Amino acid sequence: MPRIQIFDTTLRDGEQSPGVNLNRLEKLEIAKQLERFGVDRMEAGFPASSKGDFEAVKMIADTVKGTSVTALARSVKSDIDAAWDALKGAEYPCVHIFIATSPIHMEYKLQMTPDEVINQAVAMVQYASSKFSQVQWSAEDASRTELPFLAEIIEKVIDAGATVINLPDTVGYATPLEYGNMFKYVRDNVPNVDKAILSCHCHDDLGLAVANSIAAVENGARQIEGTINGIGERAGNASLEELAVAFHIRSDHYPYETNITLNEIKRTSDLVSKLTGMHIQANKAIVGKNAFAHESGIHQDGVLKHAETYEIITPELVGVSSNNLFLGKHSGRHAFNDKVKSMGYDLTDEKLKEAFKSFKLLTDRKKEVTDDDLFTILTEVQTIASAVEKYEVETMQIQYGTNSIPTATVRLTTPDNKTLQEACTGNGSVEALYAALDKLIAEELELVDYQITSVGRGKDALAQSHVQLLVNGEQMNGRGSAQDVIEASANAFMNAVNRYIIQKNMNQA
Ligand code: KIV
Ligand code: ZN
Repeated sequence: MPRIQIFDTTLRDGEQSPGVNLNRLEKLEIAKQLERFGVDRMEAGFPASSKGDFEAVKMIADTVKGTSVTALARSVKSDIDAAWDALKGAEYPCVHIFIATSPIHMEYKLQMTPDEVINQAVAMVQYASSKFSQVQWSAEDASRTELPFLAEIIEKVIDAGATVINLPDTVGYATPLEYGNMFKYVRDNVPNVDKAILSCHCHDDLGLAVANSIAAVENGARQIEGTINGIGERAGNASLEELAVAFHIRSDHYPYETNITLNEIKRTSDLVSKLTGMHIQANKAIVGKNAFAHESGIHQDGVLKHAETYEIITPELVGVSSNNLFLGKHSGRHAFNDKVKSMGYDLTDEKLKEAFKSFKLLTDRKKEVTDDDLFTILTEVQTIASAVEKYEVETMQIQYGTNSIPTATVRLTTPDNKTLQEACTGNGSVEALYAALDKLIAEELELVDYQITSVGRGKDALAQSHVQLLVNGEQMNGRGSAQDVIEASANAFMNAVNRYIIQKNMNQA
């Protein structure tokens, strides 16, 4: 069966989602999971865009082996140099250079003539080929580009050394027929097309990203780009888990192989959702909470009689397991360590100790600790830089009653080890709590978004909160979990502030 390469851009295009901002440790955690998931290439970032992104790409390139690590670059030498500096430690480094080719982008954005665009593209691909053995070239806004011009520039960049030609539907405008036809046209009209792999990259503005990607494959694309949970700029990118499962379930119709480990889907999706703070809608295909729930009596009856009456995908296929092995109050360090290992985590002794402590605290309040709870604890421990001095809440007390004004009293320690205390009121408990924290923290804070959900089901489920704060004008996400919703809310707020402190620290290092 022909092999389709899966190119993940969760850490680059996905990170361009409004409100998402990942630090180095979080990106590395996702990169390691993408490797387990089986992607062929991962786009780790855009090194020329910021020092933080450069460092994150470098860390991933130096750590992740066995998967090609790619970095984005505009068509300028300094971007390609930054990509090379970040990627030179990678086992399979690849640079991804782009330039816009549609009339509207060339005229208004680039203010370049078509000939100037061709010359720049060719010169930069040649320059990149002197450093990289794999050079991916993208015609930004390809789906709104005139086809003869597209064919002309593709032929020239392949001659200049491009090994992958990516044709994005940048604004999510194309229909499956149009997008497929563009690939057919390129295959029929570019004489040297067999020297490169054709790649598709679709945005979901019209909800067609997955359908368009499949149309591209039907017409010769052999690489698909997308993101986990379909996150990305505006309405997002093609959702990789949907594509992988579609190819698997409909292999009768699409005889293509991928390297994806399907039962890593749930974990990959959960990790990305947790770290980006982007919730997955309940009815989202494959990874939504309701994706395998049958509500109507007729459907339930049918499934009980013969599962395939209404179930085309089993939860087990994508790693949603119903037989979690629970840990509880009496589980010792040994059982805990074994469980952590069996979940694929490789923690240092110090992090393992930290995780065990959080686990024990949880077992004081919760009878059965599930895989979802452990996953929450381990992700927290893995992605927080423990060596940095942070703000820490020592104690807090919240007073709430239907006839009284909600009041929060909080005591915390600052990064320079001072203990401070403050009491504030608010219209609700969380508002009072956040007002007290705001007074105690010596940064300029503004709450932009706040969410609270539960981890798993049941009356003793963990509460999980996500917040978006502006810290000194910089947007920071925070997440926190606890048995109590107010405590989870405090943890999320503190996490956003401390992520800012950690990032400042990393940038100074
Ligand atoms: O959507 C797009 O055109 C892109 C390019 C940078 C490849 O993300
Ligand atoms: Zn894109």
